[in-house]
Amino acid sequence: MDPFEILFSLIICLLLSSVKSTSSDSPFLTKERLAEIPMKFLNMAQRPEVFDWMVNIRRTLHEIPELGFEEFETSKLVRTELDKMGIPYKHPVAITGVVGYIGTGKPPFVAIRADMDALAMQENVEWEHKSKIPGKMHACGHDAHVAMLLGAARMLQEYRNDLQGTVILVFQPAEEGGGGARKMLDTGILENVDAIFGLHVSSKYPIGTVAARPGPILAANGFFDAVIKGKGGHAALPQTSIDPILAASNIIISLQHLISREADPLDSQVVTVGKFQGGAAFNVIPDSVAIGGTFRAFSKDSFRQLKQRIEEVIIRQAAVHRCNATVDFEADYRPFYPVTVNSNRLHDHFQTVAENMLGSKSIIELQPMMGAEDFAFFAEAIPGYFYFVGMHNDSKGQSVPGHSPYFKVNENVLQYGAALHAALAVTHLLGGPATLSVQKESLHDEL
Ligand SMILES: *[C@@H]1O[C@H](CO)[C@@H](O)[C@H](O)[C@H]1NC(C)=O
Ligand SMILES: *[C@@H]1O[C@H](CO)[C@@H](O)[C@H](O)[C@H]1NC(C)=O
Ligand SMILES: [Zn+2]
Ligand SMILES: [Zn+2]
Repeated sequence: MDPFEILFSLIICLLLSSVKSTSSDSPFLTKERLAEIPMKFLNMAQRPEVFDWMVNIRRTLHEIPELGFEEFETSKLVRTELDKMGIPYKHPVAITGVVGYIGTGKPPFVAIRADMDALAMQENVEWEHKSKIPGKMHACGHDAHVAMLLGAARMLQEYRNDLQGTVILVFQPAEEGGGGARKMLDTGILENVDAIFGLHVSSKYPIGTVAARPGPILAANGFFDAVIKGKGGHAALPQTSIDPILAASNIIISLQHLISREADPLDSQVVTVGKFQGGAAFNVIPDSVAIGGTFRAFSKDSFRQLKQRIEEVIIRQAAVHRCNATVDFEADYRPFYPVTVNSNRLHDHFQTVAENMLGSKSIIELQPMMGAEDFAFFAEAIPGYFYFVGMHNDSKGQSVPGHSPYFKVNENVLQYGAALHAALAVTHLLGGPATLSVQKESLHDEL
């Protein structure tokens, strides 16, 4: 070796070692360090450049709430932030939806999802970032969900070269009744995805906790609209009319009997008539009445049975009163939401990640609820897992539940949501709980 060659290899060695040393304090996304990953992401999410940035995004979105399939400004904000981070994405997916990609661009694929839409209601909270759009409000926390997913994206992008596969970011439109998830799935964009995770903020559970369970967690949900046609006339001469108000009243009572007399008392079901429209004068029997409502069940069979009986009861009970009725289950193109079912395999994965991040005492067993989630479509097509992230803080007073005009997000929750998204995705790409238990066993062997 001549001196020049020695010098040259020395320089190469130095270069390599310097490259190695700068990267060695970053790559923690390895199988060996799987159990540390959740906590690392939580620490990262607490850093001001991530946390404050998420808070800002959430507040910006809170001021500009948009309804299902109209999330144009929200979608634009998401894309602007992804552009700034250099994260590639596809758009539009289902009108306003955005699908981003971080990692190798190759399988395995794991998806994390946020919903973007707001509700048609007036905000009654007086604060600096109150909704600027009259009659629209982020009263379900989807503004926080978008901020959390962007927060996760930011952290994952920092470690994109360490990812053992691809994390797919799903920003979906129209969760609140529009079936945005189904519309996204219809485009085929989520084929070959191994798992999908979704979360919802909850003012019921304390900040720093999560609530989840395997199997069915949220009900299947359907809508019905019915018109009961009678014959209008003078209120003082009922014998010359056919009264649709009385018919509709009996229909509503009979519908409740489906739950009390036909459903298994241990198989939760709900029928609620939330709409009853007809008549405008105290001395007139109207020509017709419109009613509408929702029905919920926890299994496909119960749901199908309930739907069939709702139709029969409305039509036949109307006939008892000499009225004619029509029933429509597809008005306004609102799709039925299936039961949201959490995968058992992903439940183990979630438990391990949440335990590593928050401690086992912070994992609450979720009670199934009659609420419904658009996430159900994803979880029907792909192994899915949906969980709640607590945000109640006693010292901040009473928490108001979602869909209230007084709903408030405790922004502290953003760090937990972002960190859970990122940690669940990364550890899933690394092999998930199977790898973790192997790791535990081998640690045990060493001891
Ligand atoms: C109900 O429909 C039948 C058959 O079309 C019709 O003869 C009857 O008049 C209708 N009744 C009412 C109240 O509209
Ligand atoms: C709850 O709120 C208080 C008052 O704002 C704050 O000091 C505390 O850190 C919060 N607790 C948690 C767990 O976020
Ligand atoms: Zn909602
Ligand atoms: Zn919601």
